[in-house]
Amino acid sequence: VPVPGVLYHADPVRGAVWREVFARRAPQLRFDLWPGDAPLEEVRYLVAWQADRSLLAQLPALELFFCTGAGVDHLDFAAIPSQVPVIRMIEPGIVEGVVEYATLAVLAAHRQWPLYLEQQRRTQWQPHVPLAAGQRRVGVLGLGLLGRAVLERLAGFGFALRGWNRSARKIAGVECFSGAAGLLPCLAGCDIVVNLLPGTAATHKLLDAERLAALPRGAHVVNLGRGSSLDARALCAALDAGHLAGAVLDVTDPEPLPPDDPLWQHPRVMLTPHIAAMTRPDTAAAVVIDAIAQHRRGEPLRGTVDRARGY
Ligand SMILES: NC(=O)c1ccc[n+]([C@@H]2O[C@H](COP(=O)([O-])OP(=O)(O)OC[C@H]3O[C@@H](n4cnc5c(N)ncnc54)[C@H](OP(=O)(O)O)[C@@H]3O)[C@@H](O)[C@H]2O)c1
Repeated sequence: VPVPGVLYHADPVRGAVWREVFARRAPQLRFDLWPGDAPLEEVRYLVAWQADRSLLAQLPALELFFCTGAGVDHLDFAAIPSQVPVIRMIEPGIVEGVVEYATLAVLAAHRQWPLYLEQQRRTQWQPHVPLAAGQRRVGVLGLGLLGRAVLERLAGFGFALRGWNRSARKIAGVECFSGAAGLLPCLAGCDIVVNLLPGTAATHKLLDAERLAALPRGAHVVNLGRGSSLDARALCAALDAGHLAGAVLDVTDPEPLPPDDPLWQHPRVMLTPHIAAMTRPDTAAAVVIDAIAQHRRGEPLRGTVDRARGY
């Protein structure tokens, strides 16, 4: 019986951690880094960030494609044989990172940190009466794994929570909206909106001028999903018009953002280079080892991507 082969084709520094975790926790599995001396015809599992067409063409025994990212919108699905399921990364490190970042951004907007920073720059000692958390309406777009984890943490602060999703969801303590008809009513009650939708054809420029205009005056936008879901020109226009108070963007379109993009210099925009969460090699390798064991037992796998929907 051949030993199921695992091939890793992504960042080599992190790959060294993956190799160490596999050696310790799954010595029965052959694990190789690419490029290297892996017997390609025996590779059953590929762990990769991109779908490398020429490498994939050399893997006749491939059974699963594990993407090292939580989002798969960058993948060239056509390069991966149609019978090979694509599994996106679901690991505790990503969830913790996104929850931390979303909490940071929501609390900063709630407690008016950008405004106080501006005042400090002007040597201005000017308190503003704070709003109680229960009076602050925070909405999350996308009630998947990450959206729900964020809502759960935000609930602890006592915010008035709402959420929007493709299919209808019921979450205790969260006013849920769904479908195309639910979007504008949801946005109309979001003082702070956090986007955690996947980047797909259906979410492309979802937050456009009309949707941003539906947000209450003075609202804040936090984008943690994908840059393609937000019309950045419409965002700048809404900020410049004073309709929106601020935006925190961890994702942009394109990435990296070109040096002359106006978002860089916008006084009401805070940008980070897609760092809300990074796949942690130690926890991710452990998750993939468990998934391979489940796959060998014929069990369904968490994170299996629906290629037609694109997430
Ligand atoms: N910034 C970062 O560092 C970072 C890190 C990790 C992930 N992300 C992004 O976060 C996204 C979400 O991750 P996740 O793990 O929560 O994914 P997930 O579990 O697949 O959840 C996605 C949710 O979005 C909903 N949805 C999809 N398309 C929709 C549409 N057109 N309209 C309304 N709702 C829609 C889905 O609804 P249904 O269940 O009804 O289909 C699902 O509830 C990822 O795709 C990735 O792009 C960013």
